[in-house]
Amino acid sequence: MRLYIDSANIEQIRHLNEYYPISGVTTNPSILVKEDRPFLELLKEIRAVIGEEKELFVQLVGDTAEEMVEEANFIMSELTGKLAVKIPVTEEGLKAIKLLSEEKIPVLATTIYTSFQALMAALAGAKYVAPYVNRIDNLTGNGVTVVSEIAQFFESYQLSTEILAASFKNVQQIHNVCLAGAETITASPDLIEKFIAFPATASDVKAFKEEWQKAYGIDLIHS
Ligand code: G3P
Repeated sequence: MRLYIDSANIEQIRHLNEYYPISGVTTNPSILVKEDRPFLELLKEIRAVIGEEKELFVQLVGDTAEEMVEEANFIMSELTGKLAVKIPVTEEGLKAIKLLSEEKIPVLATTIYTSFQALMAALAGAKYVAPYVNRIDNLTGNGVTVVSEIAQFFESYQLSTEILAASFKNVQQIHNVCLAGAETITASPDLIEKFIAFPATASDVKAFKEEWQKAYGIDLIHS
């Protein structure tokens, strides 16, 4: 399982990258716009924070496949390190996925609401598919079921495309998609921090420390 940060906030990325087992950063137009900065400068700063080896995902906004291919080449020439472009699974998007995959540019097929969209994207050559779990749930669908169906398709048809599940509102959804076969997930910083926040752990740690100090003094080295 690999974990990505779904944010473009430099301070949050810096913190999570230092403390958590992070494999990269995913962005989309809304996430970039939120930071209110020139997007290329921001993406370059994210790259500087996470280093060249971790994956950085940038979503394309062109209307036609040709525009998307041009944008993908622009992103590849402007940014360094391990990159992938995100392309929504529309008809034009599917054509762009085919063209870019032929050029060996890694593509994440995004804004996925059905297992068939994921299947088409995988057949077109996408490296990743991103089912939008919470947005599916909001439409009275079942995001976890969609992830599980995608996992079954990929296994039956021996497709190497990975599921990068996205759009979560709570940790339970993430827990469930991991069990349903998502190889990777991307989550907002506040959700990632909730993965390990458990009051009982904090209270156990406090009790251990107090007992230690009573018996031995300040800490392990200066006792
Ligand atoms: O990575 C996809 C994601 O950013 C969409 O999430 O929370 O806006 O539905 P959300």
